[in-house]
Amino acid sequence: MTQADTVELMEKPLSLCLKEGTHQIHENLDNRLSGFAPFADEQSYRRFLRMQLRLQCATAPLYQAEELQKLFPGLAERSRLPEVEADCRDLKVSDSDLSFDRLAGTTALITGMPAAVGWLYTNEGSNLGAAFLFKLAQDKLGLSESHGARHLAGHPDGRGLHWKRFKAQLDALAFTDEDKAQAVRGAREAFAFVNSAVEELMADLPRPA
Ligand code: HEM
Repeated sequence: MTQADTVELMEKPLSLCLKEGTHQIHENLDNRLSGFAPFADEQSYRRFLRMQLRLQCATAPLYQAEELQKLFPGLAERSRLPEVEADCRDLKVSDSDLSFDRLAGTTALITGMPAAVGWLYTNEGSNLGAAFLFKLAQDKLGLSESHGARHLAGHPDGRGLHWKRFKAQLDALAFTDEDKAQAVRGAREAFAFVNSAVEELMADLPRPA
C-alpha cells in the first residue's frame, strides 16, 4: 500500500478500511480455496474443517478477552469454536489431527488491541461469506446446521443482521488513524494465517480437472 492509499483508507469508517484493506487478499484466498474444491468429498471437507479449527482456535482467546468484550457487547457468544469442534467430530477428524490443529491455532501472534479487532473482523466476516459455502455443504455433502456444517450456518437472527450489528460496533470504536492502520494489519495477518493453513492442509488434495 502506498502512503496515499493509507491516508485515503483512514478517512473512512473502520469497517470500510478493513473491507478495502483486505479486498485483494480475500479474493486471492477465495480463488485458492475454491481451487481445492473443499466440498467435492468428505476427505477434502475434513481438511477445510481443520483449517477452520485452526482459525477458531487462534481467535478464541479474543472472544474471551475482557477488554474486547467491553467494546463488543455479546462478543463471547459469537465464537464458533464449539461449532467447528462439533463439526470435526461429526466428520470423524482423528484425535491426533485435532490436537495438532489446536496447537497450530495457538501459534498465531496477535499483538495489540487494534490488531486483535482486525482479526475479529476477518473471522466475523468469514461467516457472512459462508452463506454460499453452507449451501455447497448442504447440496454436495448432505450436511446441515446440526451435522457437519454447524460453523457455516447463519445466526438465528439472520446472517446479515448479525454482521450488521458487528459492523456497527466496529464503526463505533474511537480509533485513531494509527489504530485503524493496526486493525488493517491485524485483519491481513488473519487472512495470511488462513492462507498458510490452506496451503499446509490442502495442497496435496487431488485437484479437480
Ligand atoms: C471459497 C471461500 C470463500 C468465498 C467464496 C467467500 C465469499 C465471500 C462473499 C461472497 C462475501 C460477501 C458476502 C456479502 O456481502 O453478503 C464475503 C465476505 C467476507 N469474507 Fe469471504 N469467502 C470465502 C472465504 C473466506 C475466508 C476463509 C475468510 C477469512 C477467514 C473470509 C473473510 C471474509 C470477510 C472478512 C468478509 C466481509 C467483507 C466485508 O467487509 O463486507 N472469506 N466472502
